[in-house]
Amino acid sequence: MNTTSLKYQTGFGNEFATEAVPGALPEGRNSPQRVAHGLYAEQLSGTAFTAPRHVNRRSWLYRIRPAAMHPPFEPLAHATLHNRFDEAPASPNQLRWGPHPMPEGEADFVDGLFTMAGNGGPAAQNGIGIHLYAANRDMHHRFFYDADGELMIVPQAGRLRIATEMGVLEVEPQQIAVIPRGVRFAVTLPDGSARGYVCENFGAMLRLPELGPIGSNGLANARDFETPVAAYVDEEGAFELVAKFQGQLWRTALGHHPLDVVTWHGNYAPYRYDLRRFNTIGSISYDHPDPSIFTVLTSPSDTPGTANMDFAIFPPRWLVAEDTFRPPWYHRNVASEYMGLVHGEYDAKEAGDENDGFVPGGSSLHNCMSGHGPDAASFEKASAGDTSKPQHIVDTMAFMFETRAVIHPTRQALQSPRLQSGYYRCWQDLKKHFKAP
Ligand SMILES: [Fe+2]
Repeated sequence: MNTTSLKYQTGFGNEFATEAVPGALPEGRNSPQRVAHGLYAEQLSGTAFTAPRHVNRRSWLYRIRPAAMHPPFEPLAHATLHNRFDEAPASPNQLRWGPHPMPEGEADFVDGLFTMAGNGGPAAQNGIGIHLYAANRDMHHRFFYDADGELMIVPQAGRLRIATEMGVLEVEPQQIAVIPRGVRFAVTLPDGSARGYVCENFGAMLRLPELGPIGSNGLANARDFETPVAAYVDEEGAFELVAKFQGQLWRTALGHHPLDVVTWHGNYAPYRYDLRRFNTIGSISYDHPDPSIFTVLTSPSDTPGTANMDFAIFPPRWLVAEDTFRPPWYHRNVASEYMGLVHGEYDAKEAGDENDGFVPGGSSLHNCMSGHGPDAASFEKASAGDTSKPQHIVDTMAFMFETRAVIHPTRQALQSPRLQSGYYRCWQDLKKHFKAP
């Protein structure tokens, strides 16, 4: 990459324009008869051509060779990555897993993907796939794109350097990266290994939630989203391009480097966001608001207010509500909730360990109408706490992928040795406090 230090353009879904070679970007039109420096013009659209203007996304890429230039793709087997969400029956049980291990052999970001759960699928263009990744090898001369969905990458351990067609971005734990459907990229590991979560969004592109009475600022502020600047590689050689298409991987060989976009403009591009910049809003009188107040990004469905997927986080914050049970209340929801923990401890559960606890790198799943909430120890502590004093929750970052449809764990997730079969016990010690008058 011809970059020395990474630069970013700021704003969510802006009409960006960036040149790795000054003067290469056409002016006044998208497809001139001859593009400067002998580049090819190529449009990459992420929404229907006729999508309403406020959600319409596309970019124009000016590249050394068009993306069409490759021999036929052939199927590529992958043992642990798929979109078969109907292979095992979903149960109403609360489920929790310990952290995913680092790979035993060598694995790059694509090799190291392990599908945990999901719903819907790429054919219907709704639902999500939930995957874990664990990698200890750079993608060297190997590139990937996902035609099935946009990828939200949530690192838990180790930094990722993600070189994309539209430039290079770096993320560390407590940051996220979003790679749009179809954008080609390669992941390298500045720390030698990395682990985290991936949400593969088959539905409408992620966007910022409406703010309603909150006003014009708050939650994730648009200016904190960062998109890379153009960077290209002009290199001949042997390169592999892996595509995920309708739940399967495919591979082809390229004689040229696929990240050869010299300049681009448009509003369809990868971005990163630092979760520590989230402006957390909560009660300053009484009662815990619904956790929708923690939504960072949302993928809407066709039903207003009912998301295909909401990405919510539980960052450090002050609890000040008086005469209130301050942790999340007990609940049963029509929505289904997959949680992960990036850092620290989650405030509704005792920490435990990787065999019996919610620890960084672990996961939990509470499906539609399955009761859950604080464990017995957390309930007793919060019921006895002094709510006249503020409480500072620090050093934590949990998140949730919440979907309108039931989340089906995969067979390999249900058969995983990380599945904590005793999870249900955390609610069995809840005492009967009721005394009949
Ligand atoms: Fe919940």
